[in-house]
Amino acid sequence: MTELLILNGVSVRFGGLLAVDDVSLSVDQGELLGFIGPNGAGKTTLMRAITGIVIPQQGTIQLDGRILNNLSVHQRVHAGLGLAQQIVAPFKSMTLAENVALAVASAKIRSPIKAMMLHDRSQELKRARELLAKVGLGDISDDSPSSLPLGFLKRLELARALALAPKLLLLDEPLAGLNQTEANAMADTIKSINETGQTIVLIEHNLREVTRICPRLYVQDNGRKLADGPTVDVMQDRAVLDAYLGVGNHADA
Ligand SMILES: Nc1ncnc2c1ncn2[C@@H]1O[C@H](COP(=O)(O)OP(=O)(O)OP(=O)(O)O)[C@@H](O)[C@H]1O
Ligand SMILES: [Mg+2]
Repeated sequence: MTELLILNGVSVRFGGLLAVDDVSLSVDQGELLGFIGPNGAGKTTLMRAITGIVIPQQGTIQLDGRILNNLSVHQRVHAGLGLAQQIVAPFKSMTLAENVALAVASAKIRSPIKAMMLHDRSQELKRARELLAKVGLGDISDDSPSSLPLGFLKRLELARALALAPKLLLLDEPLAGLNQTEANAMADTIKSINETGQTIVLIEHNLREVTRICPRLYVQDNGRKLADGPTVDVMQDRAVLDAYLGVGNHADA
């Protein structure tokens, strides 16, 4: 197995709060890693440290053999980090395919402004339609995003993130706000994207779905690594049951 992402001793401090405390973690090429932990565990903060939005006080972040610490967010995206935004804001005057084509073009010519001015977008539109099919929006690729429900907007955001052909896709609670049926379908989509070879780190509170689709789980609590291993083992780990699920202390009673 090739290690794609390697975090070594990463710590992030906000004033007196150690939000991420000496975390070491690696993600192999092709993995779908579930990243869970209670509210305030520092999950989003660790993800922001990876993407460069927050700067860790300690530790190194390495992607595909390259140390990212001194790179800007923009440079990290070009180094292969993909991030689906939580606030989904497509261009309402463009169709879904045009929105994704713009992301495909931006990835190619590295400038959103120039990408907007590109006249012949037939190549990009073709790729955009493939990506929309991948996320389950193939049938409505020529529709406007203005009337789409949240679940569909999240799929559109996923297609836009994939347009940049990231080495590693980071997803922060993509199932939040979805009902159980939509969450189940979205989780299936994430799994199918992983099955095409895409490496994914998935932060999720929806344990039913994350344990269903992720073979491995990393658990963080109070900024620290609590467990890391095969999902079946982690979900039986006493420390995880105690600290995260709050049920372990009832087991011996
Ligand atoms: N920019 C910031 N400045 C100060 N404190 C912050 C900042 N961002 C996060 N924190 C604090 O760091 C801790 C970890 O927050 P973080 O958002 O990373 O947790 P999380 O695991 O993503 O939680 P959730 O599951 O609720 O999304 C929290 O105590 C939070 O209040
Ligand atoms: Mg969070």
